[in-house]
Amino acid sequence: MPADPSWATGPQRLDAPPEAADDDPPATALMTHDLIGIVPDATVEVALRLMVHVGVRHLPVMEGALCTGLVHETDLALASTVPGRVLLTVGDLCRPAPELHPGDRRGAAASVMHTGGTDAALVVQGDRLVGILTATDLIRSLAADVHRLPRQPLGAPTGEGPARPGAVTVPRTRRSVPVPIDLDQAVTQALRAPSVHNTQPWRWRIGTGTVELHADRNRQLDATDPGRRDLLLSCGAALHHLRVAVAAAGLAAEVDLLPDPNNSDHLATLTLRPGPPDADAAALHRAIALRCTDRRRMSHWPVPAGQVRALVDAAHRYGALLVPVEGDAARGRLAAALDDAARRQAFVPGYAAELRTWTSRYSAARDGVPATSVAPSPVGMVGSSPLRRFPHGELRQPHMVDGPRAPDDAAVLLVLATAADEVRDQVLAGEATSAVLLTATRLGLATTPLSQGMEVDATRERIRRDVLRIPELPQLLLRIGLPAEHAEELPPTPRRDLRAVLLPG
Ligand SMILES: Cc1cc2nc3c(=O)[nH]c(=O)nc-3n(C[C@H](O)[C@H](O)[C@H](O)COP(=O)(O)O)c2cc1C
Repeated sequence: MPADPSWATGPQRLDAPPEAADDDPPATALMTHDLIGIVPDATVEVALRLMVHVGVRHLPVMEGALCTGLVHETDLALASTVPGRVLLTVGDLCRPAPELHPGDRRGAAASVMHTGGTDAALVVQGDRLVGILTATDLIRSLAADVHRLPRQPLGAPTGEGPARPGAVTVPRTRRSVPVPIDLDQAVTQALRAPSVHNTQPWRWRIGTGTVELHADRNRQLDATDPGRRDLLLSCGAALHHLRVAVAAAGLAAEVDLLPDPNNSDHLATLTLRPGPPDADAAALHRAIALRCTDRRRMSHWPVPAGQVRALVDAAHRYGALLVPVEGDAARGRLAAALDDAARRQAFVPGYAAELRTWTSRYSAARDGVPATSVAPSPVGMVGSSPLRRFPHGELRQPHMVDGPRAPDDAAVLLVLATAADEVRDQVLAGEATSAVLLTATRLGLATTPLSQGMEVDATRERIRRDVLRIPELPQLLLRIGLPAEHAEELPPTPRRDLRAVLLPG
């Protein structure tokens, strides 16, 4: 019914109304906003800012692909006045909402909202949310019928598009609702990835629902890593950390490797997609903050076989082979190859200088390997150590317990290998490295990535031929073990700030 009877007598009333053939249009024809959702652990402040920016009064609350209800502007406004509101999340304020089918008519929609005592309903088809219909949409539609006001068609852009960097908008034909995620935060978590000498050789560009990863060639170790394998492995590890952060936020993502044929430094673009998040990746999220390279002696207890299998599976998911080096003979050959690499590298011009540079960084640089992360070799160790020798080490070795034991340990040495050796394979090997390290951390294991044996071509070939005896190509050695009893917590290693690694948007 028109709110003002005089309108009904206006000249426009004489024309045929735009929907003369259907004067009770379906819900799909009435919705005016693109779908923007929010995750339950977003804060009240984040939700308010998002609403203001998109110009909506309700947001669907998304747990993965599932909509659990709506958060209303009024609830947020009220919550903002509550002392201690900083502790409140969107999940605390989420309310169930009535549901409509896309074909439900305007009259039925009004009745559902009225009965439900709400001014918004979820429009659901099967198990997917296709939109939110609000009382305002109904009023606008009624007014347009009366007044011939132009109405925004379904899917027309409203306002300035997505809410803020990280909020995504997708067509309604997609399976589920996009959820805004703070991509700055996700990339910040990716920065915790391991990198050779902690060079952090990456740059990132954050767009709307996309993140680009670029190699930073200025941070390549020319003497240590002339082929840039370590650099690409490091970037791949960061890419996998990003996948984990995004999955933990309940989002699905697609990764395009080397998307720009004219720019080989553009290693990947991650694009948020509707759909269920990668559960395997999400499960590794807590390990990002816990993982640290441990260069100390590990436990005398071997890693249980089931855990080694879990590590092998984690690598396999990214197309890499993880081969445990087992038996005294193979381990002996590996030790000899690593000794050989260390001897040869000592004569590579620039190698020692690079090691010095990256182990004696000024603290504001927030990169490099601090002496507090390096332990001196355990006194009396049996055989040679597989570890790279760093100039300084201030990290205390764990105390020996249980009487006189050999100070070396039962850590397993595993070689990560790939079928081919192109840039793509090395980035994927980096993803596999991260998957293995985070899986190990999740299992409570200590880890040390070791690349020296792969940095010298002759040694790398020797490891492939004499130790592994497989056609695949070694990319990285991983030392993984139970932490030694009484091992102290490792100090965190520095990382550059997000702002220092962002490319202009
Ligand atoms: C590709 C790659 C190669 C690495 N090589 C070695 C190595 O040879 N020796 C070593 O002690 N650590 C190595 N690391 C570990 C890094 O030094 C370590 O990740 C970095 O210092 C950051 O510290 P964090 O892992 O504790 O966060 C490597 C890491 C990566 C990703």
